[in-house]
Amino acid sequence: MALASNPPEAILLVGGKGTRLRPLTVNTPKPMVPAAGVPFLTHQLARARAAGVRHIVLATSYLAEVFEPYFGDGSAFGLHLEYVTEEEPLGTGGAIRNVATRLTSGPHDPVLVFNGDILTGLDIRALIDTHRSTGADVSLHLTRVPDPRAFGLVPTDATGRVTAFLEKPQTPEEIVTDQINAGAYVFTRSVIDTIPTGRPVSVERETFPGLLAAGAHLQGMVDSTYWLDLGTPQAFVRGSADLVLGRVPSPAVPGRRGDRLVLAGAQVARDAKITGGTVIGAGARIGSGVRIDGSAVLDGAVVEDGAQVRDTLVGARARIGARTVLDGVVVGDGALIGPDNELRDGARVWCDADIPPGAVRFSSDL
Ligand code: GTP
Repeated sequence: MALASNPPEAILLVGGKGTRLRPLTVNTPKPMVPAAGVPFLTHQLARARAAGVRHIVLATSYLAEVFEPYFGDGSAFGLHLEYVTEEEPLGTGGAIRNVATRLTSGPHDPVLVFNGDILTGLDIRALIDTHRSTGADVSLHLTRVPDPRAFGLVPTDATGRVTAFLEKPQTPEEIVTDQINAGAYVFTRSVIDTIPTGRPVSVERETFPGLLAAGAHLQGMVDSTYWLDLGTPQAFVRGSADLVLGRVPSPAVPGRRGDRLVLAGAQVARDAKITGGTVIGAGARIGSGVRIDGSAVLDGAVVEDGAQVRDTLVGARARIGARTVLDGVVVGDGALIGPDNELRDGARVWCDADIPPGAVRFSSDL
């Protein structure tokens, strides 16, 4: 049995292609896209450290080479970080198994595993305590969502023990619970060693149902704190704004919580109105009369006079022309949107695209 004082180790899954987040993930892996002024992964590392974790292994695959130059050995973050890159993507379960050789935990010790795209106020220590007190093989953070149809459902019995894993329910009868897998787990170390090597494995679709069928003890811990899957542009912008507003705690936000976060080196016109948890990146320039609400403007981007930007992510070095309206849009790095355009409702502008003045409108007048 591990001593309670042994700090738990963690595995962070950061190798996904992040297709739903394109074009943000064309040049940058999802965990490195800035949220509230720092790569999103920084918030997860800071929260893990605050929970007592010291050794974290990052399971990388897609654009693997960008993580280590930024985070190094982790000492600047008070952590010991290691990186393991898959030659071919191994899926979530394969990735966990692939990094197991870097763990120093004994067979009975708890090992934390986090999806790299979840923003949550989860009480990590409580999840470990639940794991220890119930003697589970795997413990899962479960959260409740109003519409669980897009998720894998995880019903539990009266003691919190998982009774089934139900993938994406289609009919009302199949929606037997509103509890879903929230992407944070504690594995007893020896269980990780049972995952097959050398081939892709999905922890959600193969490992967990297989363990359950074999009689293993899988424990659910419902924690209804803040939880958001940052897999889509709209969710990513929402998460960044909620970090700035302080709706979800992170020790890594580089400034005071509030209506806006303006990073060093940004220039904002005095009469610009920046609200709703908007972050303005380093070196960005915001012109006169601009209104930006609930958005993220990344480093070096320019928003020209009179533009209106809402619930939108403006990529690094992108330029938004005068009087242009953006609402619920993602603008890729380096894109140019000329003056007097209007883009709304999930429009995605690709990196380095060039939209001429007055070329796109969603209404007959602005
Ligand atoms: P989408 O392509 O938009 O679905 O995003 P994704 O590729 O990130 O997939 P998903 O959101 O299902 O992944 C959940 C977590 O597992 C994320 O943190 C991913 O980075 C990670 N992940 C998914 N597949 C792999 C893989 O093959 N290897 C590794 N190391 N991590 C993975």
